[in-house]
Amino acid sequence: MMLCPLRLRTVALFLTVWVAAGAGFGGCPPIEQVQKPEVVSTYNVSKAQGRFFEIFVKDVVEAPCTCFLKDRRVNAKGLQDSDQLYCGAGKYMSWYNATEDNFFVPGHNARFDLVFQRPLIRKVVFPNVVLGFAEEAPGAHTSGYTWLVEYQCMERLGVQTYMGFNIYHRNWDPPEADVIAIRRVIEEAGLEEHWASIKPMGGPHCNYTNHTSSPPSTFQSSPALLV
Ligand SMILES: *[C@@H]1O[C@H](CO)[C@@H](O)[C@H](O)[C@H]1NC(C)=O
Ligand SMILES: *[C@@H]1O[C@H](CO)[C@@H](O)[C@H](O)[C@H]1NC(C)=O
Ligand SMILES: *[C@@H]1O[C@H](CO)[C@@H](O)[C@H](O)[C@H]1NC(C)=O
Ligand SMILES: *[C@@H]1O[C@H](CO)[C@@H](O)[C@H](O)[C@H]1NC(C)=O
Repeated sequence: MMLCPLRLRTVALFLTVWVAAGAGFGGCPPIEQVQKPEVVSTYNVSKAQGRFFEIFVKDVVEAPCTCFLKDRRVNAKGLQDSDQLYCGAGKYMSWYNATEDNFFVPGHNARFDLVFQRPLIRKVVFPNVVLGFAEEAPGAHTSGYTWLVEYQCMERLGVQTYMGFNIYHRNWDPPEADVIAIRRVIEEAGLEEHWASIKPMGGPHCNYTNHTSSPPSTFQSSPALLV
């Protein structure tokens, strides 16, 4: 496989960051242990479409971000996400666009191979596992789930190298009852020790989608995102 030097460097930096960010020692728990059989049997990817806001996150890539809108749609290969992230530091906060593919894993419902298509870390495949979701309230008219909990764990030679959580909701400012239900999903997966390190996202700018005043943005132009 040929990689251009720049991309190699990006991946290398990213790997350094995530190992340094201290995922635990010991491997990943087996997926069957964290993912409930009823999630596997009932998850309907069609209901994961439309606009979501990331409301909680544990992910070194998104550490400098406070807002993350995600427009998801199903295609022949999986669930594709068009992301708009609000990231940076202080007055240098700005919006970024990214595209992610959650490729279907044949034979495994509610599991995906997550790959960033652009503009960052294209060669890394994150195993993305749905831990839980909520059916929409009657009359909500979002035609899909109200929230979703997704989890990724990677190991190498029995040592955990990455652990992340991505928690999405239709509303950037979710009701407390939903937050409690989301936490329960993580507890029931046996992963409650990580709740304290899962940070809330959000703020008034999270529903602001006017990009006209923002400079054209790419990940590469942001040192904050590549550390
Ligand atoms: C999955 O969800 C879609 C959209 O709500 C619905 O049309 C379809 O019937 C559902 N599939 C199953 C197997 O429930
Ligand atoms: C953003 O959310 C706030 C609070 O919910 C609301 O008052 C405001 O109208 C929203 N702005 C947009 C552009 O949707
Ligand atoms: C978006 O931009 C338009 C035109 O510049 C402006 O009228 C509107 O108030 C802006 N919306 C927000 C939420 O700032
Ligand atoms: C980012 O995506 C939004 C929505 O698709 C679009 O309106 C905006 O122009 C894009 N911004 C950039 C800098 O590409």
